[in-house]
Amino acid sequence: MPCDMLVFGGTGDLALHKLLPALYHLHRENRLPQDMRIIGISRKSLPREHYIDLAGRHCRAQIERKDFSETSWLSFSERLEYFAMNAEQTADFGRLASFLGVNGQRGCIYYLATAPQLFESIASNLALTGLTGANTRIVIEKPIGHSLQSALAINAKIGEAFSEEQVFRIDHYLGKETVQNLMALRFANALFEPVWRAAHIDHVQISVNETIGVENRGEYYDHAGAMRDMLQNHLLQLLCLVAMEAPVRFDADSVRNEKVKILQALRPISGMDVQDKTVRGQYSAGHVGGHNASAYYFEKGVDNDSDTETFVALEAEIDNWRWAGVPFYLRTGKRLAKKTSEIVIQFKPVPHSLFNDSQANHLLIRLQPEERISIELMAKTPGKGMHLEPVELEINLAKAFQDNRRWKAYERLLLDVIENDSTLFMRRDEVEAAWQWVDPILKGWQQHYQRPRPYPAGSNGPEQAHSLLEKNGCAWH
Ligand code: BG6
Repeated sequence: MPCDMLVFGGTGDLALHKLLPALYHLHRENRLPQDMRIIGISRKSLPREHYIDLAGRHCRAQIERKDFSETSWLSFSERLEYFAMNAEQTADFGRLASFLGVNGQRGCIYYLATAPQLFESIASNLALTGLTGANTRIVIEKPIGHSLQSALAINAKIGEAFSEEQVFRIDHYLGKETVQNLMALRFANALFEPVWRAAHIDHVQISVNETIGVENRGEYYDHAGAMRDMLQNHLLQLLCLVAMEAPVRFDADSVRNEKVKILQALRPISGMDVQDKTVRGQYSAGHVGGHNASAYYFEKGVDNDSDTETFVALEAEIDNWRWAGVPFYLRTGKRLAKKTSEIVIQFKPVPHSLFNDSQANHLLIRLQPEERISIELMAKTPGKGMHLEPVELEINLAKAFQDNRRWKAYERLLLDVIENDSTLFMRRDEVEAAWQWVDPILKGWQQHYQRPRPYPAGSNGPEQAHSLLEKNGCAWH
């Protein structure tokens, strides 16, 4: 069936920097349905040609030259339309319906690349105007809400207009190749399963460190902070993929059933534990990548007395048989020394050491800046005596598949929406279980006036994030 994609927030950063370039790639590779229109929607009144110019400028800037062709751009731009409306006014949805020429013969994918405050109004107005039939789907971006309560309200409102199968809650980390490779590594290789448990694993680290600050998103970020922007979604999703049991099948419900069990098994962190097991930080002025960086509270759109965290580190525990007693250390922050996203599975040392310089093994799954998976093993150095050193056994994914273009997360996920596959999207109960665990931490910070610890831009975060591991005899990778 013919199908259109409507992007609410069509002139925003997400649409221009990520969605349109991803759709361009899919178009170029003939993956989009033949007559799919892509309709950018925002309040600005803008002639279609101007929208195409704007999209073109951003796509040219985002897409690598070798992957951009003017001929494909021209045919792609024929799909682009623009519609100006106020997403809070029901009458405007009536105009939208006439613009679309809705006759039940075309499907519609509504992509809400807007602030979450608009989700409820858009969903109910689409329903009121008869734009939510069986051939429609809705895509919503994280963070879904601000707390458990607001997430419940959003999910309920969206649930009145769309069935759960029609709702795609996107977390772009699940679209990253290495994240899917983590599932391949665990569930397509017999090697790891016997040691993937508390008896052999000492602890797990999940870090998503960024060098960028809040860019021009200060206003949004100051109300969100690192916990809501990154940890509640991206980091907890990574934790689920590391910790979940093997699903019965690789399909949407089987995978999501296993993930939700992990979220429900997370030991609550509340009361005094909040101070012991979590660290909040906020960047102060410093240097990143050879440039001066100003303090967070001087960023555009940020309150100059802000106590929003730009860094969070915490120790999570999963109360189930596989993981009892294994700490999962999570950390994410902005304006840190290096951009890296990685998962480290730290194994226990050998039960009885024969050699002085033996160290415990670890498995490193790196998502960014390069995609690779490596295991550090101990080996004897050449020559006399038994001197050991760690050596790396590496799977370099970029090199192994160098003939394949690396798909960006949004390309994979947008195609999944078009093809109606929700395996890599969050189900309602997952989002709610994640908030259920995060809410008491946010409340604890408020109750104990746990203000963020300052850390200089370009550093590795506040000192306390290191003590969190040191007290258990470990250190961040
Ligand atoms: C987004 C957050 O979801 O992820 C941003 O809102 C963050 O604050 C971004 O910078 C990081 O994504 P990536 O793919 O660059 O690691």
